[in-house]
Amino acid sequence: MKKLIIANWKMNPRTAKEAISLARTVAMGNRQFSRKIDVVLAPPFPFLHLKPYILNLKLGAQDVFWKPEGAYTGEVSVFQLRSLGVSYVIIGHSERRALGETSDIVQKKLFAALKAGLRAVLCVGESEYKRDAAFPPQVREELHTELRGIPKHLFRNLIVVYEPVWAISSVRGSKPDNPKNVFEMGILIRRELVRLIGKKRAMATPILYGGSVDEKNAAAFVREGRVDGLLVGGASLRQKSFIGIVRSVAEI
Ligand code: PGA
Repeated sequence: MKKLIIANWKMNPRTAKEAISLARTVAMGNRQFSRKIDVVLAPPFPFLHLKPYILNLKLGAQDVFWKPEGAYTGEVSVFQLRSLGVSYVIIGHSERRALGETSDIVQKKLFAALKAGLRAVLCVGESEYKRDAAFPPQVREELHTELRGIPKHLFRNLIVVYEPVWAISSVRGSKPDNPKNVFEMGILIRRELVRLIGKKRAMATPILYGGSVDEKNAAAFVREGRVDGLLVGGASLRQKSFIGIVRSVAEI
């Protein structure tokens, strides 16, 4: 499976000019790795016009609404994303869940994105760090509720990110997870996916890790954690760090 690295810019940078400049630099820096790695930039909605600047990178959004059109002030539809060349969409990020997004909402968004042929990047992860906890019930619950009721054939476009909330760099006191735990969580998540969407699709579903990934730990998460890629927040805004992450994974 070709490795996948997704840059989650969150609500950054401040201006369109900065966004274009960052996108251009990252696109140039990653050119030599594009045969080995798919890199997705997920900027905020107002900067989704980056397509012309990003050469061989792909474009992702950080959220989407589930209705196709209509009177939904402030929301953005799958069709609007697709018309801008967006092919990936992050769904259920913990920062959106913290703002009140429930598993039912996540399920609707996931269904809408998959139905529209977008690659849906579902983020799951437990809020509290618990050593030796087997499969965190929160992660199981999220997967069960959020994949429910979606026709199985649509899951070919599913990507799952294991992103423990306590490992996200902007969370106070956060620390990155370790590759061993990520490896175990990857197995547990895939096992759960087998139950929920069937073996063939579960085996083909990329599972990524996210949470304080930087140029120093990225390769270990992929090599020893055996994930299919990474979701990168803070470090994706620092061009050198981000290119360093892509390089280190390409060199594995
Ligand atoms: P981080 O963010 O890499 O800054 O920890 C990851 C994310 O929230 O997706």
